[in-house]
Amino acid sequence: METTTIQSSTTNNSKTDFLPLQGTDYVELYVGNAKQAAHFYKTAFGFQSLAYAGPETGMRDKVSYVIRQNKLTFVLTTPLHGNNPIADHIHKHGDGVKVLALKVEDATSSFEETIKRGAQAYLDPTVLKDNDGEVVLSGIHTYGDTVHIFVERKNYKGAFMPGFREWKSSYNPTETGLLYVDHCVGNVGWNQMNPWVKFYEEVMGFRNILSFDDKDISTEYSALMSKVMSNGNGYVKFPINEPAEGKKKSQVEEYLDFYNGEGVQHVAIATNDIVKTVTELQNRGVEFLSIPASYYETVLERVGKIDEDLEPLQKLGVLIDRDEEGYLLQIFSKPLEDRPTLFFEIIQRKGAKSFGKGNFKALFEALEREQDARGNL
Ligand code: FE2
Repeated sequence: METTTIQSSTTNNSKTDFLPLQGTDYVELYVGNAKQAAHFYKTAFGFQSLAYAGPETGMRDKVSYVIRQNKLTFVLTTPLHGNNPIADHIHKHGDGVKVLALKVEDATSSFEETIKRGAQAYLDPTVLKDNDGEVVLSGIHTYGDTVHIFVERKNYKGAFMPGFREWKSSYNPTETGLLYVDHCVGNVGWNQMNPWVKFYEEVMGFRNILSFDDKDISTEYSALMSKVMSNGNGYVKFPINEPAEGKKKSQVEEYLDFYNGEGVQHVAIATNDIVKTVTELQNRGVEFLSIPASYYETVLERVGKIDEDLEPLQKLGVLIDRDEEGYLLQIFSKPLEDRPTLFFEIIQRKGAKSFGKGNFKALFEALEREQDARGNL
């Protein structure tokens, strides 16, 4: 594998979208033990083995396992020694999302266009080559220690990218119907939501498509505020949460305490059949927030007629919400780590483009029961 840093400048004068994104390329987690994490995500969520990098492929200081299900790609990376930025990240944050990688046509122009608008460089444009072609990467910092990497892979036909080899495993649990990343939510500190909204607007050309204040998102005890940022074509959506004052500690504050700073709170993953997917996930041991029976007594009055039977939704704890364009079904896992930090949302959209505002109260009350059980409310 060759590595080259691109020095020369290319120009992209597109006024309409200076950062055209083709979607999420991958989500990379820094974890304490990538071998075991890969086994967990394969077993519990039905990811398939895709690629591997480590000492055997010339990577001396870390190991990465790449797992995939449909268009959903996760990279699980662990350091092989103690004294390096990956080990520092895990020491500070526990297991968590380091990279939200975005697929682009041109990683060099993505870097230049965002840097000139004020982004902090994380990775200068770099060309990686092997016998399957080339991948160009570049990266910028976002909230906390999280980064965006721009991935240009139009000239690559290998399994993942140079430096990795195909990972063929004899252990291949069946898929669970997870399709792609619907949205990724960031938790930021007090008074930091608007500065990060501005970052996504000015540096990345996103727009604010929805806002929720603490009146929308508050329960008896804890509160938060949220703004949803979307890129031009809507393929990439990043809601940003900040804590708000309530009688007790906000769930966002609990996250910030345990993650030791700002970071990715949840990754929402799309399915076409939430009942089938969540039944399978629960059978494999994935735990979800439980929703009281009272929620289901009134939900259809609020959302109107839906195609699904209510009974399986109630049995699984799936939430329902409706907007002007349709409805959605969603469910939230418990944290995937021992720290109450990253969790997954599973979402099936039936026309709705929103994020389940009507469920916030029921959802946050469920979260608070968990938070209270941990002694953190
Ligand atoms: Fe969400």
